Amino acid sequence: MTTHLAERQAVIDGCLAMNRLGINQGMSGNLSHRVEGGFLVTPTSMPYDAMTPDDIVEMGLDGTYLGNRRPSSEWRIHRDILRARPDVTVVLHAHPTFATALAVHGRGIPSFHYMVALAGGDSIRCAPYATFGTQELSDHALTALEGRLACLLANHGMIVLGTSVQSALSLAVEVETLARQYLYAQQLGEPVILPPDEIARVAEKMRRMKYGQPVDDSDAPEDTARPRS
Ligand code: 13P
Repeated sequence: MTTHLAERQAVIDGCLAMNRLGINQGMSGNLSHRVEGGFLVTPTSMPYDAMTPDDIVEMGLDGTYLGNRRPSSEWRIHRDILRARPDVTVVLHAHPTFATALAVHGRGIPSFHYMVALAGGDSIRCAPYATFGTQELSDHALTALEGRLACLLANHGMIVLGTSVQSALSLAVEVETLARQYLYAQQLGEPVILPPDEIARVAEKMRRMKYGQPVDDSDAPEDTARPRS
C-alpha cells in the first residue's frame, strides 16, 4: 500500500508547477516534503510529467530509503535542511534562468528591493560552489540558509524553503523575479541598496500583516484595510 498519498501527489504537482511557472526546466531540480519519520523526495533523473505517486521516494533522516527508485542526487540537501530546520516542511531546488545567471558569478541578491525581506533577511546569499550531490554542497547550502528561506548555489541554481509546496513555489517565483529585476537594474549601474534598518522595518510589517500568506482578517493590524461590515 502506498503511504502518504496526498503528500506524494503534492510533490508531483509542485514539480509540474515549477516547470509550468518557468522556474525550472527539463529534469533539473528536485522537491521534498516532510512526513512522519522522514521525508518524501523526487527520484533522480526522472521527467516530472512521467512521475506517479509510487515513484516518489520515501527516506528516513538517516539516509535510508524505501522502494525501487533511487532518490534525488541532492537527497543530502533535503535531509540536512529538514533535520536542522523544524520550521520547514518543503524544500525546493531549481535552476531558474535569472537566479542561476547571478549564481554563476557567485552573486547573491542584496536588498535593492524591499521584497528581498520575504526570504527572511536583508539579502539572499549565494552558497559557494561544490559538486552536485555532495555533502560539501549540502553544508554550504545549510550555512547560506541560516535565518533565511532562500539561497542561491554558485554555478548551479537556487533553494527555497516553505511550510507547504504552495508557499515554496510562490517564494521561488518571487526570488526568480527579484533576480531578473536585479539583473535588469544593473544595466544602469549599481542600484540603490536599502539599509538594514529599513529591511528590518519591512520584515516586521510583513510579519504583522502576514504578508504573502492567505488572508485572515480576524486579526488584521490597524494599518491594514478592513472588509466593510
Ligand atoms: P536529480 O535528478 O538527481 O534530482 O538532480 C537534479 C539536480 O538538479 C541536481 O542538482
